[in-house]
Amino acid sequence: MSEMIRADKIRFAYPGADAPALDGAELVIERGTFAVILGHNGSGKSTLAKMCNAVLLPDEGAVYVEGMDTRNDELLLSIRQRVGMVFQNPDNQIVANVVEEDVAFAPENLGVPPEEIRKRVDDSLDAVGMREFVTHAPHLLSGGQKQRVAIAGVLAMRPACIVLDEATAMLDPVGRREALSTVRRLNREQGITVLLITHRMSEAEDADRVIVMDDGRIAMDGTPKEVFSRVEQLRDTGLTVPETIDLLDRLIQRGMSLPPDALSVDECADAIANALAS
Ligand SMILES: Nc1ncnc2c1ncn2[C@@H]1O[C@H](COP(=O)(O)OP(=O)(O)OP(=O)(O)O)[C@@H](O)[C@H]1O
Ligand SMILES: [Mg+2]
Repeated sequence: MSEMIRADKIRFAYPGADAPALDGAELVIERGTFAVILGHNGSGKSTLAKMCNAVLLPDEGAVYVEGMDTRNDELLLSIRQRVGMVFQNPDNQIVANVVEEDVAFAPENLGVPPEEIRKRVDDSLDAVGMREFVTHAPHLLSGGQKQRVAIAGVLAMRPACIVLDEATAMLDPVGRREALSTVRRLNREQGITVLLITHRMSEAEDADRVIVMDDGRIAMDGTPKEVFSRVEQLRDTGLTVPETIDLLDRLIQRGMSLPPDALSVDECADAIANALAS
């Protein structure tokens, strides 16, 4: 695997802020990874996300996108094409009155020829399961559909990586499932690297990697089982522990012999059933 994103000891403070938003964060994301970033409010997740496509530049340290230094002005356009962002509010991301025009917006700005744009719009809408809405008005779609159109708009740039900053936070459960399964599929089928920032532990369950931020640094980094079984450390960083792990932790404290990392509901139920049967 090759490196998609590398953050080398980055420090960053917003103008006038007392404390830095990023304080020595170090991270390497390999191409093709599905990584979930967790962390309490203000821990630096969104700031880190904005470093990944050069919306913000580090005060100290460096960020590289496929080896390209984000501080290099001449690489800015290439970097923005490689890493697409999807944000929380779907309404703020709609720029046109028709779905296909909305999806075509970024490639049009990049000067992509019209026949190539047509193909990209169709492919991107196919990829998010929204092709049938091609001539619809985006503002009449549901929240989950709007986020899928936003994802299609990013896909039309042919990015290698998509960063979703709480992109499911404003959606209802159905919309959330639609948006999540769309990015999972893009990761698995097209090898697109995904950085998913979320407050929901359940969205991290089947990630390749879970990264926990705390005070502008990377506090924990590992597989979901590795990270979520470190119950005390999670609580110390102000995060809630997934319900399955919390239940196992309490039963273990009462003397039951159980695996501390049976994360999914099925695994957890099986582990408890086995322990009771033995
Ligand atoms: N535009 C800004 N100007 C000044 N300070 C900011 C700005 N944006 C963020 N901060 C501060 O920088 C720190 C990190 O913020 P950031 O938005 O990266 O955290 P976050 O982990 O995304 O939080 P949340 O979970 O609330 O989205 C916080 O202390 C925050 O108050
Ligand atoms: Mg944020």
